[in-house]
Amino acid sequence: MRIIAKHAAGKVLKSDGFQISADAKLAKKKNPEIIDGTLGTFYFEDGSFRTFQTVHDVMSKLKDEDVYLYSTSDGGPAFKEALLNWTFKHIRKEIEENFSVAAIPTPGGTGALTSAVFNSLDPGETLLIPSPCWGPYVGIATNRAFKIEKFFMFDGDKFNLQGFIEKCEKIIALQGKVVAIINDPCNNPTGYTMTKEELAGIIEYFNSKKDIPCVLIYDCAYMDMAVEGFKETREKMRVFLKANENILISIAFSASKTFFIYGQRLGGQILLSKNKETVTEYFNASNYTARNTWSNCNKGMIRVLEEITKTPALQEEYDKELAGVVDSLDKRSKLFMKEAKEVNLKAYPYQGGFFITLPCNNNMVVLEKLVQEENVYLLPFDDSVRVAICSLPLKDIKGLAIKIKRVIEKYS
Ligand SMILES: Cc1ncc(COP(=O)(O)O)c(C=O)c1O
Repeated sequence: MRIIAKHAAGKVLKSDGFQISADAKLAKKKNPEIIDGTLGTFYFEDGSFRTFQTVHDVMSKLKDEDVYLYSTSDGGPAFKEALLNWTFKHIRKEIEENFSVAAIPTPGGTGALTSAVFNSLDPGETLLIPSPCWGPYVGIATNRAFKIEKFFMFDGDKFNLQGFIEKCEKIIALQGKVVAIINDPCNNPTGYTMTKEELAGIIEYFNSKKDIPCVLIYDCAYMDMAVEGFKETREKMRVFLKANENILISIAFSASKTFFIYGQRLGGQILLSKNKETVTEYFNASNYTARNTWSNCNKGMIRVLEEITKTPALQEEYDKELAGVVDSLDKRSKLFMKEAKEVNLKAYPYQGGFFITLPCNNNMVVLEKLVQEENVYLLPFDDSVRVAICSLPLKDIKGLAIKIKRVIEKYS
């Protein structure tokens, strides 16, 4: 007798980042020499984790009714205002002049991705994702009976637009529609940031498909960690303005990453299309999904986002704190990449953000040996291992490339 539903049977969370990271943290408690480069959370140079002081201050002044009451499943007009202001900043006006726009809060960027995928595909249809990619993309699809197709992200040290198009063509031939996730800027796991032209290439290709429905799920979880700053990351989204009516752009914002509120679970989904009906239909379905899945989102964090976006002094304070974080990431990545180059350790092209990824064979063996021989914990990705520089102070990064090189050379 099997009680579990057929669709649920056999589903097991394997090689999951949270689990491996919990193991690493436990090991580090026993041995402080351990280097824990597993999880995508930012740790300061003194090894401590804390949220932004700005977030902390706003949160601590909120009234009970702003934190502990229910919020509405669609977040209400003030949330929409805050999310659009934050996500688009100086290009918001242009975006709203050119698109129908809707917005809804979600539990993290994960909720935004899940809702977008769920409401874009029918069971048995295929989601296109990059390789390597953030692990949950696979589960977000397969948990809901969708298939996945992967395209390799790079052509040399550039975005593999041709590979992306080839896989889109294959999917379109099968299902007459394409739904793809792109994680940019500061891609997880590689740290790659697409150029404006590369992102425009995707829109141009989708435009060329004319009557074929195309959904671009733009996962910009690490957008605010980009070394090029707010202005450039938003400027790049201007390429969306050229999208034709057959395209829906679903932006997945992660407050976890932007505000260091990982466990508080807030994100947002923004829907953009030139076709008003498409946006209305998607928004209604997303709100239905929200109410009937997680019900509503973290009210306190919604209020924090609203307060920071409407109060210039708070925004300024946050900006200063963020500049320190981005500077830290820049220093860490430069040190790692310099040492990697010195020992001839190959890395995927990195421009910014939390992670650097090293292609290798036998990645699970490499990870095991890194623990046993070098006291280093990293995470597995497709034919690669990922170093979370966000969680490692400079003192841990110094000498790390040679440790990884030794193990890759021996076991890869
Ligand atoms: C690429 C990518 N997208 C989205 C997310 C979503 O994070 P959250 O649900 O905490 O906002 C993450 C978190 O690690 C991520 O790495």
